[in-house]
Amino acid sequence: MRIAETLEELRKERSHFDIPVGLIPTMGYLHEGHLSLVRKAREECSSVVVSIYVNPSQFGPQEDFSKYPRDVKHDLDMLRSERVDLVWTPSDAVMYPPGYQTWVTVEEVTKPLEGSIRQEHFRGVATVVTKLFNAVQPQKAYFGQKDAQQAAVIRRMTRDLDFPIDIVVCPTVREADGLAMSSRNVYLSPTERNSALVLSQALFRAREAFDAGTHDADQLRQLVMDTLASEPAVKVQYVSCAQADTLQELHGAVERAVLSLAATIGRTRLIDNIIL
Ligand code: PAJ
Repeated sequence: MRIAETLEELRKERSHFDIPVGLIPTMGYLHEGHLSLVRKAREECSSVVVSIYVNPSQFGPQEDFSKYPRDVKHDLDMLRSERVDLVWTPSDAVMYPPGYQTWVTVEEVTKPLEGSIRQEHFRGVATVVTKLFNAVQPQKAYFGQKDAQQAAVIRRMTRDLDFPIDIVVCPTVREADGLAMSSRNVYLSPTERNSALVLSQALFRAREAFDAGTHDADQLRQLVMDTLASEPAVKVQYVSCAQADTLQELHGAVERAVLSLAATIGRTRLIDNIIL
């Protein structure tokens, strides 16, 4: 497994790779959710590139950029076991050199949900993913359904900017008790982690209701809200039943939708979703 830090090193390595090249963008502190993307890429691609970069421009001023968990040595060990060809670990100086002033903004799909709470977040994501796409020039790129709106934003941006890249979105990997895997789960105390179980439970309950015939979007949102209300430690930011590509809120009977939520538990902010 090769490791590149500068753009020159990356380009030199990339020039020898057989195609299709698959890229998995990450912020490190890897878990089974990330590894599921790596394994999918390993199945589908001749060469697999993983980037590890905690992108400062997608964190708000009050957010957890400085304390975001990092353990690159452990990440590299995990990626070696997955037979990854190249890991790109650019520095801030490589990604945002002095004088940097170019940004990618995706419009409507970034406005609701995460965008309504985390201003500038998707500008940071779209910009860094564009830079990763340009640097690595993959034929395929892998993202998780865990971040449903991010996946929708990347799909829209890829179409709009004509990147010749196939975007593959992989299912959310969960702990045995239902909690969606996330690098941020390490922030949770044992009591908070227990409270956090209500997030996935609320979504699963709504799915059961949906499967049993409750297709009304407002009723489904209310069901999620009611379950979340049973856990006082959970402060809800939004519960949404929306169209998967646009994230526009739905009303009345739905056949397909993304049911998503964001909540804080103590100082930790978590998101989760399921597809109906
Ligand atoms: P990060 O949170 O490290 O996630 C990297 C990728 O792993 C994302 O596509 C995310 O959706 C996916 N992922 C995270 N948890 C998952 C889970 N439990 N199951 C399946 N996939 C999961 O998302 C980012 O980094 C950044 O915004 C990034 C795209 C790298 C841009 O900086």
